[in-house]
Amino acid sequence: MAAALLEVEGVARAFAQGDQRIPVLENVSLTLAPGERLTITGRSGSGKSTLLNLLAGLDHPDAGRIIWRVAGRDWNLVGLDETTRTAFRRRHLGFVFQFFNLVPTLTALENVALLAELNGLDDPFGRARWRLARLGLTGREAAFPETLSGGEQQRVAIARALVHEPAVVLADEPTGNLDRETGDAVFAELLEVLAEEDRALVLVTHDRELAAGGDAELALGRSP
Ligand SMILES: Nc1ncnc2c1ncn2[C@@H]1O[C@H](COP(=O)(O)OP(=O)(O)OP(=O)(O)O)[C@@H](O)[C@H]1O
Ligand SMILES: [Mg+2]
Repeated sequence: MAAALLEVEGVARAFAQGDQRIPVLENVSLTLAPGERLTITGRSGSGKSTLLNLLAGLDHPDAGRIIWRVAGRDWNLVGLDETTRTAFRRRHLGFVFQFFNLVPTLTALENVALLAELNGLDDPFGRARWRLARLGLTGREAAFPETLSGGEQQRVAIARALVHEPAVVLADEPTGNLDRETGDAVFAELLEVLAEEDRALVLVTHDRELAAGGDAELALGRSP
């Protein structure tokens, strides 16, 4: 087996509710190899988004370790300072959200180019144009998000998630706001691009059909 891209060990997270602390994640462990697809499932409130936030270093676990092995080094998220964690996230992770989250005042092209620019990569607009073309959006570069269909917006979001060539894409219900047919088409395109480029995917979904076919599944909230 290839060296793990991600190792999570014994992660716990609880949130305060009144004067109680409600455990959401307890003793979560997982590994992900380069290019693999991990699916996180579980009922609403079981902690799927909480776990994704921890993997992204957007939130801190109460216990446990989260280590990404990217670009020839170990990124131990729990030990890193905020600045380094932010730099790691920006450079090595891609995100796709349920509600697309495009910047409304930027065109499709500008939305995609932004992360390439922020990361100081050469030719950010060339990269963005190529990414949009791969997702069938040639001709829509100058469109603003509100003038695009849901499926088109999510394709722009996928182009944006990949423009800086991250090792992994983290996706939280990426088709949750699209009709079945559009969602399936967009998801298939995402998988195709990831497979061609050997990038990993961590997918949060309620959808049994999308959950099937990954390399591993983590079902949260099963214990009493
Ligand atoms: N910042 C926070 N402060 C307090 N409670 C929180 C916080 N974030 C999450 N929670 C609680 O943790 C639990 C898990 O939330 P989370 O958003 O991870 O669920 P989920 O599995 O993603 O659900 P859904 O499928 O509805 O998106 C919920 O009970 C939620 O209220
Ligand atoms: Mg959620």
